[in-house]
Amino acid sequence: MADNGGMFIRELERGDGKVLKIRQLCSGDVGCVVWDAAIVLAKYLESPEGPRMKEASVLELGSGTGIVGIMAGSLGANVILTDLEELQDLMKMNIDRNADLITGSCQAKVLKWGEDVTEFMPPSNYILMADCIYYEESLRPLVKTLKDLASPETCILCCYEQRTTGKNPEIERLFFELMKDNFEIEKVPLDKHDTEYRSEDIHILQVYKKN
Ligand SMILES: C[S@@+](CC[C@H](N)C(=O)[O-])C[C@H]1O[C@@H](n2cnc3c(N)ncnc32)[C@H](O)[C@@H]1O
Repeated sequence: MADNGGMFIRELERGDGKVLKIRQLCSGDVGCVVWDAAIVLAKYLESPEGPRMKEASVLELGSGTGIVGIMAGSLGANVILTDLEELQDLMKMNIDRNADLITGSCQAKVLKWGEDVTEFMPPSNYILMADCIYYEESLRPLVKTLKDLASPETCILCCYEQRTTGKNPEIERLFFELMKDNFEIEKVPLDKHDTEYRSEDIHILQVYKKN
């Protein structure tokens, strides 16, 4: 759907028929559009066997348009959506435009992976991330941020699309390699994903920091 100002809207219908309307930019970096992994994770959040969002404290990394965090907020979670400085306006606009559906709370903040996370302490109940494993230089800073932000009680839900071209398989391998000493990782079986919004090549990982 076209919108003014070089934007187009991605609609995502919740199970109760209410619709999130997420603005995307026609030009800009990868965070300006909604990625498939974000849709899969957003719909998993409201699945009956999914995580309990009501009144949970949630931090999202690499939020982009904000669709995942806004879905969490619409399910009653208190969410801090984070991304680089250049995504703040888009996240804030999407939070504002979907305010009528947010029954918890949503706020947008800058968090660059690898940098100081004191502002985001104490640890949240959940850390969410969709399609954040995609370039090599970011992997060490991203894993450091997860280590700094999570306690052993924090449930990290990491959704990513498995890509088989170019450097992608190596990037995925390196992410697991960097995580293995400090985190326990379990894949959420496909039959627990939303029945409509699921795909063989999009994985949801449930991750806990080791004690
Ligand atoms: C592929 S996009 C995914 C966006 C959104 N989660 C989705 O799935 O629609 C990756 C996101 O990670 C963010 N990102 C990349 N490098 C980052 C870094 N070093 N620190 C914080 N965010 C970063 C980008 O700005 C972008 O919004």
